[in-house]
Parts: sequence; structure tokens; C-alpha cells
Amino acid sequence: MQKVAFVGYRGMVGSVLMERMKAEKDFNGYEPFFASTSQAGAKAPDIGRDAPPVADAHDLDFLSEMDIIVTCQGSGYTQKVFPALKQSGWNGYWIDAASALRMNDDSVIVLDPVNRDAIDKAIESGIKNFIGGNCTVSLMLMAIGELFRKGYVSWMTSMTYQAASGAGAKNMRELVSQMKKIGEQAGGLLSDPEASIDELDRNVLATMTATDFETENFGAPLAGSLLPWIDAGMEDGRTKEEWKGFAETNKILGNNPPIPIDGICVRIGAMRCHSQAMTIKLTKDIPLEDITQMISGSNEWVEVIPNTKERVIKELTPAAVTGRLSIPVGRIRKLNMGGQYLGLFTVGDQLLWGAAEPVRRMLNILLGKL
Ligand code: HSE
Repeated sequence: MQKVAFVGYRGMVGSVLMERMKAEKDFNGYEPFFASTSQAGAKAPDIGRDAPPVADAHDLDFLSEMDIIVTCQGSGYTQKVFPALKQSGWNGYWIDAASALRMNDDSVIVLDPVNRDAIDKAIESGIKNFIGGNCTVSLMLMAIGELFRKGYVSWMTSMTYQAASGAGAKNMRELVSQMKKIGEQAGGLLSDPEASIDELDRNVLATMTATDFETENFGAPLAGSLLPWIDAGMEDGRTKEEWKGFAETNKILGNNPPIPIDGICVRIGAMRCHSQAMTIKLTKDIPLEDITQMISGSNEWVEVIPNTKERVIKELTPAAVTGRLSIPVGRIRKLNMGGQYLGLFTVGDQLLWGAAEPVRRMLNILLGKL
């Protein structure tokens, strides 16, 4: 029986992965092990069957016994442990939610509803490293990957509205603390319908700009505001998140030459759903009805939302999508620039299809279950 180790199963992505695996009754057909950087010796998590006590995630002897390692521990861990493990002669499968190995030639970025053919070819050719993609990229491709696959995209811009969860659990807490503080400080002004809106507005701004306003993680107020910068800066003026949109999308699709993709990535005060507004130049003037059909038929999770205010504000929002695997796509229309120009909007749960789900499914592919 194959041995599979799960590393970083208690963090945000790791916990969502465990929940999804339990919900899908995935813990069977192999021997599961758990490893942690801080909980070695603890009881294994409740997965509905026995598993040995938690191992030390830095123990190379333990890791080298594994046929498959699934890690949600983060890039720092991968950079430290992966090269040492390979050097020791280990030749198992490495499935990783972090970005460290994504762009390596001997890694495939996994998003099987979009690139199952590339995954299968890679397994056949002996590739061992299968890495989950950037959340924004995976969610975008779940929504409109079919337009790329059919060769209908000449170029694309994606303007993103990214949730706090993409920055980490501490950032999610900070966002809610900021909201709480703003609400508390507004107190009486908010409960008095006669209070002047100017006064309320000044009160909120004063709270957000006060020196004791909690901004340790984001570096600036996010509640009541937004932050048009995600991740590190690159030399060409892009942020790393914006660069990934181009580099990872083209790698997943195997495009050569690459398709121009660019945009501006923005952090907003949503909890865990990323949203994106896309402008696409099509390679030809395709009727809207054909485009809609192509999108809705591309996978079982995508959902086209009719372009009415009522449906859009109920179904095409982070509040509607959180905790769900569905990928709604809406506001689909041709733009004033001409018949080849398409606009649309999509939302997806950053921890599900954006992180845990492609990794969960990759394990099942390697185990022959999918
Ligand atoms: N980098 C993403 C974000 C999350 O900051 O929202 C991980 O893909």
C-alpha cells in the first residue's frame, strides 16, 4: 500500500484540504501519515481511521519512506526540505500548494479540469512534482480556461479584487478587527439616523488614520479602503502577483509563444473569495451566445449568471460563493471597442479551487482514483 504524508495540515489551506478530503471520504486506499513543523508526537488528526502519531516534518528519514508527500506548509518549508530530500535520493511524488517550485522545468502546475492532458503526459514521462497554481490564476482558468484552450484569446487583462485570506490567516483577523474598530468608534453617529453623514464620514476616516488603528499585517487600512499592491514588487513595475497571471497561465496552458496577459491586482475587504474583471480581445468576433455556451459547458463547477441586477448581486459576489466550489461567471458582454472585445466578471473561493482542491484532486489522480 502506498504511503502518503500530509505536511502543514493544520494551517489555513491544510485545514480546508483536510475538510474536503473528509467530505469526499478520500482517506482510503493508502496509508496516511501526518507531519508537522511544530506538533511532532501529537495525535494524528481525526480522519475517520487510525494514523500514526504526527511526525517531524523536517525528519528526512521519515519523509524518504513516503511514496507521496502533500504539503501545504508554504514555500519556506519547500525550499528547505525539498532539495535535501531529493539529494538523499528520494524519488517519490511531491504535491505542493506553495509557489516555490511552480515555474521549475521539472514541475507541472496542476488544475486538472483545465490541464488534465498535460498532467497525464507528465506522469507518463516521469515528472514527480505537481504544484498547485496561484489562486487568482486557477480561479480565472476555471472560469474561462476553455476560451484559451480553443485558441480564442488574443490577449487579456484581469483586474482583480482579492480577499484578505490570500495574504494569510492573520490578515483575515486584522480585516475584521479593523471593521470592528470602525463600527465601535462610529457608535452613536451610526445609531442616530439624524446624525450628519459628513460627521460619520469624518469619524470613520479619523478611526482609520489614527496611529493605533491595527495595520500590522496589511501595512495600511483595508476595511473602508483597498490596497492596489499584492506581493513583492518586480523591476518592471509589476507586482509578483501580476507577473504570475502571465507566467503561470501560459505555463498551465503550455502556450508557446505566450499570450499577453496583464492587469492590476488589488486587495479588497472580502474574507476568502477572489473576484476578477476580465477584458479579453478575442481572435475573432464570436457571437455572445456561443461564448456563453463555451464557458458554461467547460466544466461542472462553472455557472453562468444571467446579466440582470437581481441575479448578479445575489450570485456573483464573495458573500454568495464563500465555502462553495462553484465558479460563477457573469456580466458577460461585448464591449464598446468592438465585436472582438469581451468583458466578464468571475468570483471563486480562494481556499477551495484557489488552493486546496487542485491539490486534493492531484493526489487522487496519482492514486488512480480520478
Ligand atoms: N497571492 C495570493 C494573494 C494568494 O495574495 O491573494 C495565493 O495564491
